Amino acid sequence: MSSPGILQRYSHLLNLPAHTQPVTLLEGGTPLIPLPRLTADLGGGFELLAKYEGLNPSGSFKDRGMTAAISEAVGRGARAVICASTGNTAASAAAYAARAGLRAIVLIPAGKVAAGKLAGALAYGAHVVQIAGSFDDALGLVVQISEKHPIALVNSLNPFRLEGQKTAAFEICDELQRAPDWLCLPVGNAGNITAYWMGFRQYDQSQKTGLPRLLGVQAAGAAPLVHGSPVEQPETVATAIRIGKPARGEQALQAADESGGSIIAVSDEEILAMQRRLAAEGVWVEPASAAGAAGLKAEIEAGKLNPKGLRIVAVCTGHGLKDPGIITGQFAPPAAIPPDLQALEEIILAP
Ligand code: F0G
Repeated sequence: MSSPGILQRYSHLLNLPAHTQPVTLLEGGTPLIPLPRLTADLGGGFELLAKYEGLNPSGSFKDRGMTAAISEAVGRGARAVICASTGNTAASAAAYAARAGLRAIVLIPAGKVAAGKLAGALAYGAHVVQIAGSFDDALGLVVQISEKHPIALVNSLNPFRLEGQKTAAFEICDELQRAPDWLCLPVGNAGNITAYWMGFRQYDQSQKTGLPRLLGVQAAGAAPLVHGSPVEQPETVATAIRIGKPARGEQALQAADESGGSIIAVSDEEILAMQRRLAAEGVWVEPASAAGAAGLKAEIEAGKLNPKGLRIVAVCTGHGLKDPGIITGQFAPPAAIPPDLQALEEIILAP
């Protein structure tokens, strides 16, 4: 049975205004996929699960927050929505705006958005504007314009985005019957880690599910929360988290701290190696989405996190199809042969 959508499933737990008018693409209900081979590679004796958020309607976790933000915006009579984005928020906002019949305007950093995300935003009919600058520049602009004109801001500065996104924590607790011991996830603008912490705390208060420790993971070239200061020119292969001034940075640091966890950075090489490692077990995610598991691996190998006996969830935030170029760019094009049996035998049976 398909998911009823997170607004319906968790309506009693979401702090949304009465005027909210549900706009849904039946998001949520994503699987927790066991990763037994990666677990064994990391020494075994624990449980590691991927929360595969790439299976949401527009291919990323953003749909959870977007169903909430767009539903609220529609309910208050908004006609247009706007966001800055490294790509996934743009595609998600475009999808839900299309669903609701609203105009979507998305600002993206020129040349730094993966092909599948840009294509998504265009396919859903958004007005896409490229900024000759960073995500952080784009976010500054959309905040200003939404204060000046009647255009609803749907970045995660919008509190209803977090209300929707916290449902991923609810789903994990519902499925495991308690919170995991650790939750590892990528951190960019820092809305998602903030939302997960809200969700886990809310569930623990009402249902005594316990709390996980949070391992937030940034890319080394875009790690303001690890350095403790903004990064003017963030750079990473994981373009989704190429962010130097996270809007919810303070809350992210507080969440990691309160949970007894931390925010760390991993290199682009570690991110790409983990992307290949996950794909080798059948779970293809975009680079940023491998950062959580890459951070976990680094912590275990450095002896900072002993996983024995623990249950750990790595959040895989977006689908691998979002960023096909990162894969095709790493491989030579597949061999081309004539439609001929002998040629096929030669190529696949070669010693
Ligand atoms: N993973 C993916 C695939 C993302 O697209 C993002 C953020 C994150 C992780 C980090 O989440 O920002 O809540 O800390 N993407 C935003 C966007 C910035 O515009 O799509 P965060």
